[in-house]
Amino acid sequence: MSAGSLAGRVPEQFTFATSAAKIALEAGALLRGYFERGVATEYKGDVDLVTEADRASEKLIVERMTTAFPGHGVFGEEGARRGLDAEYRWYVDPLDGTTNFAHGFPVFCVSMGLERRPSCTAADADGELVAGVIYDPLRDELFTTEKGQGAWLNGRKLRVSRTDTLSEALLATGFPSRKRHVSPNIHFYHEFTLRSHGVRRAGSAALDLAYTACGRTDGFWEFHLNPWDTAAGALLVVEAGGTMSRFDGTPFQLNSNEVLATNGLLREELLSMFADLFAGRDLQPIPTPSEFAAERARRQS
Ligand code: IPD
Ligand code: CA
Ligand code: CA
Repeated sequence: MSAGSLAGRVPEQFTFATSAAKIALEAGALLRGYFERGVATEYKGDVDLVTEADRASEKLIVERMTTAFPGHGVFGEEGARRGLDAEYRWYVDPLDGTTNFAHGFPVFCVSMGLERRPSCTAADADGELVAGVIYDPLRDELFTTEKGQGAWLNGRKLRVSRTDTLSEALLATGFPSRKRHVSPNIHFYHEFTLRSHGVRRAGSAALDLAYTACGRTDGFWEFHLNPWDTAAGALLVVEAGGTMSRFDGTPFQLNSNEVLATNGLLREELLSMFADLFAGRDLQPIPTPSEFAAERARRQS
């Protein structure tokens, strides 16, 4: 298997993910080039970054998809809206992890998830996820999946981890760049950190989901994600034997806003933690900075 090549990395039985993987490899190579050269950063919102690389990657993906999947719709983070009445719709994040990318922090990917939307699907309802591709160009890791065909990393079949207790789990989360002041996630981050081996915040939700699918983490949660962040990763998790839901255990949807991925074995424990925390039960005390400073001053005197 040579870096950036598709040979031997995607199962033969795939219908859509092979062509999509080829496109993801090409977009990933484009991102790698921009990353090595460095790019200027612009703001989409207060703290929401975008770069030339995000736009160039989306442009390339949309062009290639028009040829590879002429009848499919495309819904991209950077504005692509095509064929949204089609039966199949790709959710495209051309660069997931833009903040990392802009700072030279080497964690980002391309994510493309395919939803099938039969004509009876209501506008605000999900269809079914049928394929997904996530590509990390710096590690040359290609995650692929199709419904009923398993989840794969560079041609190796994936399985979620076997960790069955929160106290032995490694988890991941993320924080929205928009409306940070209304997110309660820092409380969840704190509580889960105290009760587990740790919580990683690597800055790419699509890779966070892929890492739960391949057992590098045992679970992942985040508030306020978008369909382009989750479509591919959600199917990877389920096809690798894990679970996807909202924080109250109801089914995950692309517009859920709330995403909880688990290895299955941890699902009930994590859901019960969410229920307790939302109800204000069982919060662990933590000193405020001023209490800590006062205690430190007392010890030093
Ligand atoms: C972001 C990343 C990050 C998550 C943010 C997303 P972007 O996507 O996935 O991990 O915490 O909520 O918006 O903006 O880099 O494509
Ligand atoms: Ca994203
Ligand atoms: Ca993005």
